[in-house]
Amino acid sequence: MSAYFNGLVLRSSAARPAVAELRRPEVGPGQVRVRVRAAGVCHSDLSMVNGTIRPSYPLVLGHEAAGEVVEVGDHVARASVGDHVVLNWQPACRNCWFCTHGEPWLCSTSSGVASLENGVTLDGAPVHVALGLGAFADEVIAPQNAVIRVPSTLGFDRAALLSCGVLTGAGAVRNTAQVQPGESVVVIGLGGVGLSVVAAARAAGASDVIAVDVSDAKQSLAAAAGATDFVVSSDALSKEIRTRTSGRGADHAFECVGRATTIRAAWRATRRGGKVTVVGMGSNDDQVQLSALDIFSSARTLRSSVYGSADPDIEIPLLADDVLSGRLSLDHLITDRITLADVPDAFDRMSRGEGARSLVTLGR
Ligand code: APR
Ligand code: ZN
Repeated sequence: MSAYFNGLVLRSSAARPAVAELRRPEVGPGQVRVRVRAAGVCHSDLSMVNGTIRPSYPLVLGHEAAGEVVEVGDHVARASVGDHVVLNWQPACRNCWFCTHGEPWLCSTSSGVASLENGVTLDGAPVHVALGLGAFADEVIAPQNAVIRVPSTLGFDRAALLSCGVLTGAGAVRNTAQVQPGESVVVIGLGGVGLSVVAAARAAGASDVIAVDVSDAKQSLAAAAGATDFVVSSDALSKEIRTRTSGRGADHAFECVGRATTIRAAWRATRRGGKVTVVGMGSNDDQVQLSALDIFSSARTLRSSVYGSADPDIEIPLLADDVLSGRLSLDHLITDRITLADVPDAFDRMSRGEGARSLVTLGR
């Protein structure tokens, strides 16, 4: 059994990621070793490459993934060798204030960890792994609470999508905004996350789901996800939305881009008293401007949704059931199937706003 495996490494902020040979540590107590079988290219990975967020280097990228448990350390009760698992980049400690007050997605142990060292090395020196995982790799070493068992009938491709984009999008609709039947919804940004919001909003019974993107190539993907309308983003967006919502604006707007301008557009697209849910992760220096009078008189709610305000241990199995029973379809989300070495090109496509999810398949 080789101690070496391949992973996609970002060596510095200016470099292009490249496949490199990594060495894994011994699997420690409470840890599991997972052979990654599928990993989605999520915008948060791109954000680490293009400087929107600043992790430590060198960094093994990737966090939206599923695979098979191949080794467990001592005292591991949650998973056994052979289990099919979804990886969770924000595992709850279950002890901190947030975990014991019903908000495990804000766990103070794992929250905000862009990168950490877990014993994996590159040329004999420690590397960091993205979001505690580093899942653009043949293998991941993770604490046992970062794996969630799923039925093997789900398949690794769909399991991988659940681990970040789908949980984030569906959770934003179900948990954060709590969209009700008959409500109108605007979704700005139609990548894997935004399209998951569209599908969940329709499943929640929204009467109107108006999908918005800068790229009109997203129209057919939006329709496949269940959108009732599609609008190309422009300065006239709020007017466009009003004409489609009896002049009022929508009950809900979901921002799935991660920029101040689209957060403002989402704000302006909602009605008085409406709810704006920020799903996109933007940069620290991108400021949103809203007037004090507007905040007061519009009576809107502005909330962010971190990891779908979800407890992944509970919601990933529920989403897996939804997929297996046909209530939730994910297949339209996969627009490219690629290898590890192709991920930099997938980042380029994502930067241009093309496609939905590129899915890396490994070890098959
Ligand atoms: N208006 C509307 N849509 C826009 C705009 C804009 N001004 N700018 C970009 N977009 C669209 C892009 O064309 C693309 O379709 O937003 C979409 C973003 O999709 P992806 O890049 O595939 O990102 P995704 O993985 O879906 O993540 C979206 O959620 O979790 C966060 O960090 C993640 O901030 C990111 C967001
Ligand atoms: Zn992600």
